[in-house]
Amino acid sequence: QEALTPDPILSGKHVVVTAGPTREKIDGVRFISNYSSGRMGFAIARAAYRRGARVTLIAGPVQLPTPEGIVCIKVESAREMDEAARALYEGTDIFIGAAAVADYRPLEAVEGKLKKGAETMAVQLQLNPDILAGFGAQKKAGQLAVGFALETAGGLLNAKGKLESKNLDLIAFNTFEQPGSGFEGDTNRLTLIERNGRTDALPLMTKDEAAGKLLEAVSRIMGAEGG
Ligand code: CTP
Ligand code: CA
Repeated sequence: QEALTPDPILSGKHVVVTAGPTREKIDGVRFISNYSSGRMGFAIARAAYRRGARVTLIAGPVQLPTPEGIVCIKVESAREMDEAARALYEGTDIFIGAAAVADYRPLEAVEGKLKKGAETMAVQLQLNPDILAGFGAQKKAGQLAVGFALETAGGLLNAKGKLESKNLDLIAFNTFEQPGSGFEGDTNRLTLIERNGRTDALPLMTKDEAAGKLLEAVSRIMGAEGG
């Protein structure tokens, strides 16, 4: 049981967090997905709840219990996640994109089960909606957008590019090439980059601790904007 220690700025704010992978149907029994466990997103949701926020998780298929006090909307595909997020846009104060959204989906899901035959086969893919960029594009004064950037080790500039192009206030850069970082473990090493350029390279820490640091930064940014 985690103690509730309300943050005066985050208290009563509606924090929406996307988490986990998405699944994109190939046919009735197969899908494209990734190794995301959802742990980072769930840790962020819990950390926000502990600080007094009202929290909604929009989660792809994960093997994690819904944390106490948090509403969890379960979705499967990127398009379902996008729809769930859009329905909440208006009442969202802080949108945090922690999901590993599949960038592409099969252009057409086959009904039933694909039969094997030819030696090689191709599945044509269609770009998925960018859920975080969708929120960023319509963001009003007082709303914050926060993202993650999973990059190869030298990807700090790519992360900054995503902060700009998705109209974010904060992005957490992490690399899956470093020991202790990435999808499946309990630890992560984040570098927090703010819109104004302020950068904080955090040491390796548990996902719960990293979530706490992320929310501290969110609270400070929100406070500075008068929220
Ligand atoms: N994201 C999203 N919807 C997508 C793709 C990404 O909401 N369709 C969000 C992720 O949740 C993350 C951020 O955008 O917060 C960056 O995701 P990432 O995969 O690192 O970047 P992409 O923009 O997808 O670019 P690429 O994968 O080509 O590096
Ligand atoms: Ca991507």
